[in-house]
Amino acid sequence: MCGIFGCILKNGNAAPIIHSALKKLEYRGYDSVGTATVYKNKLFIKKDKGKIDEVHALHNLDDLPGRIGIGHTRWATHGAPYQVNTHPHTDCKEQIAVVHNGIIENFAELKMELEERGHVFRSKTDTEVIAHLIEEKLTGGLTLAEAAREALRQVVGSYAIAVVSVTEPDKIVCARKESPLVVGVAENALYFASDIPAFLPLTNRSVVIQDEEIIILNDGEYEIRKIPDWELVKREPEVIDWTSEMAEKQGYPHFMLKEIHEQPSCLRSTLRLQDQFLELMTTFIDRAGEVFLVACGTSHNACIAASYMFSKLALSATHPVIASEFVEQHGKSVNIDSTLLAVSQSGETADTLAALECARQRAATVLGLTNVVGSTLTRVARVYVCQQSGPEIGVAATKTFTSQLSVLSQLALRLAKRRGKISHVEIEDLEEKLKQMPDIIERIIQTKEEKLRQIAKKYKDKRCFFFLGRGISYAVALEGRLKLMEIAYVPAIAYPAGESKHGPISLIEPGFPVIFICPKDDTHKTVIGNIMEMKARGASIIALVEEGDEEIKSLADDYIEIATGLPEVLSPIPFVVPLQLFAYYMAVERKCDPDMPRNLAKSVTVK
Ligand code: G6P
Repeated sequence: MCGIFGCILKNGNAAPIIHSALKKLEYRGYDSVGTATVYKNKLFIKKDKGKIDEVHALHNLDDLPGRIGIGHTRWATHGAPYQVNTHPHTDCKEQIAVVHNGIIENFAELKMELEERGHVFRSKTDTEVIAHLIEEKLTGGLTLAEAAREALRQVVGSYAIAVVSVTEPDKIVCARKESPLVVGVAENALYFASDIPAFLPLTNRSVVIQDEEIIILNDGEYEIRKIPDWELVKREPEVIDWTSEMAEKQGYPHFMLKEIHEQPSCLRSTLRLQDQFLELMTTFIDRAGEVFLVACGTSHNACIAASYMFSKLALSATHPVIASEFVEQHGKSVNIDSTLLAVSQSGETADTLAALECARQRAATVLGLTNVVGSTLTRVARVYVCQQSGPEIGVAATKTFTSQLSVLSQLALRLAKRRGKISHVEIEDLEEKLKQMPDIIERIIQTKEEKLRQIAKKYKDKRCFFFLGRGISYAVALEGRLKLMEIAYVPAIAYPAGESKHGPISLIEPGFPVIFICPKDDTHKTVIGNIMEMKARGASIIALVEEGDEEIKSLADDYIEIATGLPEVLSPIPFVVPLQLFAYYMAVERKCDPDMPRNLAKSVTVK
């Protein structure tokens, strides 16, 4: 996730406006920043790695001439955060500059073809192909907008882009597919941005650009066209009545809620990861004598789910270990045949890094799954995969958890395929269901959020909760419990449902709330038995069930229905979403700040 912004002013200098707007988009990424302006038929570019303030202190981002410009704040996906990989990117002749938020899936093929035709690339980014493609189309005599359209028709993936060119120095051409893009309309200026807060102090009139549309900005006027058939679209600006603070959260009261709602789009990004890194990681896992899945907090819960995925799909045992325990538990036995897959949203958690260091010293192979390119984990891992969820601000991990699950399930599936442990039909079914996951989650959020708010209202004063699940749903129970505890400060216990009768059941008294996670998998029958045990002792049952599961619905005091027909190994992805929303609304009902829970930190860099 990156932030883009640009403007065409009637008068004055664009660069300082771009600089302050990018500051408002910094939450979308902050590992490098750059601006390009057009002035007297020349491009002027300043860019470097580092936070905006650092780059500004070095290069003075306000000091670029011209009233037209584009800017970018980066969250690295393809290519480490170096100056050369910083946007804007240019063509061979340095006449065209492009900023981009999204992922070009077929960039490697396009780059090879362009290189064969003599184009010289400077960066390792996917974005640079767009600049070179437009360069080619322009030499064929098209206008900048037509050239951008032709280039984008060759691109597979997601994008919000903006292009300037010295050949048409009065214009900015922008386009979008699956990445956000909005245009701000003022008396004396036009702006575009990834997000409304970037221009909200300057204008509250905004035009939302839809998928596969191009918008041509030109001195106070704009023209929108559809990329597939070049049809003209008439769209008037709407008035935004958000305050600046509301706008940063896109109208949501908290970042956590915004991030829960972002999950469909984050999951779509996990379906576009670079094949070569997933394959390489699969090779290391395949060859390992033993595999440890090492993490803390929410990432550890993802690892527990992953251990079921590897076992069920690839028939391969992996060991999820809490990072702070790794050295004591396995420090002496880990060896050259061991592989550690460290899962860490931040890539900076001290306990996780300490486990890796111990393993590295004993010649084990270290792999990483993280959300932050350039983090320590990406530097120490032999191979890493970036889950591409974009920055997560809420301390409670939500969107990064479901994205981790998606990537880990893809790894388990690859291993299963490679080892011939899974049938063709199962592979196709899993791949298809992974593709449907964003829509399934969208529907849960749309249709169940209000009900979950009501359930939270009903149970807000309960002093303790149980979360129970069997099999892979145990990981969901753990994550639901963690969310509730960390942001609503309600003590909660998560157990494998079968184990609950060996102790925790003694806590049950009439009205004690027990949340059961009940997908219709092989554990379904026995879970019903566990529900009966709790019900017989007066517990209030809140059940997460698949649509049409009348048997469990009839036993529950409250239930939430989730799409049916999910493969067992993918069920944690949709089943955790109601628990995130429940924890969120419990925090709100109990007057706690879900974004900043007491005593916790987003990234824990001490042991
Ligand atoms: C902290 C955060 C959790 C997070 C954990 C691991 O405890 O509050 O939300 O799950 O660290 O963080 P990591 O960045 O390694 O995934």
